This record gives sequence, structure tokens and C-alpha cells, in this order.
Amino acid sequence: MNLDYVKKDFLKDIGEASSLPTLYEVKAKYVGRKGVITAAFKEFKNLSPEERRERGRLLNELKEWIEWKIKEREREILEAEALRRELEGFVDFTLPGRRVKIGSLHPLNRVLREIIEIFSNMGFSLEEGPEIELDYYNFEALNIPKDHPARDMHDTFYITDNALLRTHTSPVQIRAMKKRKPPLRVISAGKVYRRDSDPTHSPMFHQVEGLLVDEDVKLADLKGVLSEFANRIFGGKRKIRFRPSYFPFTEPSVEVDVECVKCGGKDESCVVCKGTGWLEILGAGMVHPEVFKAVGYDSGKYVGFAFGLGVERITMLKYGIDDIRLFFENDLRFLQQF
Ligand code: DAH
Repeated sequence: MNLDYVKKDFLKDIGEASSLPTLYEVKAKYVGRKGVITAAFKEFKNLSPEERRERGRLLNELKEWIEWKIKEREREILEAEALRRELEGFVDFTLPGRRVKIGSLHPLNRVLREIIEIFSNMGFSLEEGPEIELDYYNFEALNIPKDHPARDMHDTFYITDNALLRTHTSPVQIRAMKKRKPPLRVISAGKVYRRDSDPTHSPMFHQVEGLLVDEDVKLADLKGVLSEFANRIFGGKRKIRFRPSYFPFTEPSVEVDVECVKCGGKDESCVVCKGTGWLEILGAGMVHPEVFKAVGYDSGKYVGFAFGLGVERITMLKYGIDDIRLFFENDLRFLQQF
């Protein structure tokens, strides 16, 4: 056995031993009972007495040196571990504090609150209705009987023949009128559901409904309220237009559009406005006499106007968002921009 090689191997092994268990493995490998040095002593048998003495001396020297090296390494490891333990409990009071993460309002809730605030300031009070609604309130009482073609536009999620996920907030009009006596000035806000999904339609979205009933109410009053609303929500910066339309529960009916935020009306292949240049934000009109009949109001005495708007649409216009699905993906990179 070449002792120079043993020495070299040992130095390499001990250099790699960075913990006590690995160090003790090295110790066993060289100076243990079944170690390299013990094996080297056994090779003596065939040697002459002189050679044996010389060889014994060298081996003993090597053994002592190895044991001393191991002791030294052991001390180093113990010191390093003690230092590490000390540092573990160390607190650096000069470090800046960690910022506490707090949530914020979803952009839709923000805009929803803004809309409610605007109408509250005009004297409308908040009314609530269920999301699971009866056919009667969602359709029938709003002058949309079973065979009415307007039902096709709603792509309804039915629960039973009689119960459904409300397709709009208009049923709250019926509930409010049945509960109260005119004069009446209410809004209602919440989730509505339709089987529809593309960059501007989501199967669940939010509407705000408005209803005003009194004596001597005119279409001009509706126009005044809605243009004031548009001015306040968009800061008076966007063009809007009134367009004659049709809803079974209003007569006459109008639709209000806002200039497309994506293309400004310049792109015929725009996915947001589908090339029309305008985005519908709300439907409105004068309450239909059939609706008053359903809730037992005297349509000879009372007149009213109603409107319904999409909160997602308004939010998209306000912030220049071109895909409604971003609201519901919960991507913080999107949500943190508001
Ligand atoms: N409910 C209609 C819809 O979801 C919107 C609407 C139109 C509401 C005219 C109204 C109204 O109150 O008068 O499409």
C-alpha cells in the first residue's frame, strides 16, 4: 500500500466532509477498526524485522497525523454550527418592515358603487330582488307572455318551468311597485344571467335598473336623468346617442349608445363594437300600461320611466377594457391596475 496515495485520498475526503456524520464516516474509513490503516498494518506479516520497524514508524506517524487532522476538522465544524445557530435567532432591527397586503375593490364593484351614488344623489333609493326569479316577475308581469318573441333575446337559464336565473334586473321593478305606492323612485343593482359568451358578453353580468313613477312624468325627464348620468359617469367626455327601440315593458322605448372606446368608430372589423362604432349601454323607456296593470297601478293617473344598464359595459368604456372576460379571471396583473 502506497502511503502517499492514502494521504492524498484522505485529504480529499476530509476536505469534502462538512458535517459531523460525514466526518465520522471518513474517520472510520481511515483509522477505524476496519479502516485503511489497520489494513496496512496487516500487510506487515511478510516483511523482515527491519522493514517492519521502518514501516511501523511511518504508519504510526500517518495514523497520528490523520487523527489530529480529524480533531481539527471536528472543531471547525462545531464552531461553524454554533455560529449558524446564533445567527438563526438574530433579528436585524434596521431592516424595513414588510408591507401588509390588503385587498381592494374589484373594478366592477367600484363602478357599481359610483353608479349607485350618482342615482342616490338624484333621489333614487336602492331596492333588492332575488337572483333566482319566478317566470312571472322576469317575464309575464313585464308584458312578456310565454309565446312572446322577446323571450328569445334573453337566452334564459331555466331551473324549472316556473323558476329561472333572472335575465335582467327589471323584475325588481315589479316587486318594488307591488310593495309600494307611487310616487316611486328606485334603483336596483345586481347579477343577471344569460346563455351568452364572447368578448362583450358573459353568462353572468351586472345590471342597474331604474324606475320612476309619478303623476306628470315625461320622456324629457328620462332624457334629462340619463344624460346627466352619462355626464357624471364618463365625465362628459364621450358622445352618447338616443335611438328608438323596442322593449315589451316600455312604450316608447329607447336605447342609449356610447361611442366605441376601442376603435372610436373607425375600425369596421372591431371586435368590441362589431364595426358599428357604438356600444349599447342601456335600454329605457316609458313604463308600459300593461306593466302598471300587472301591479295594480292606475295608468290613467300615473306615468313612469324605467331604464336598465350593464355595469360591465360601463366599466369597459370608462377604463378602455376590450374583453369582458378579464373581469372574471382573477388575474392580479389586471385587477391591480384599478
Ligand atoms: N331589461 C332590459 C334588458 O336587460 C333593459 C331595459 C330596457 C330595462 C328598458 C328597462 C327598460 O328598465 O325600460 O335588456
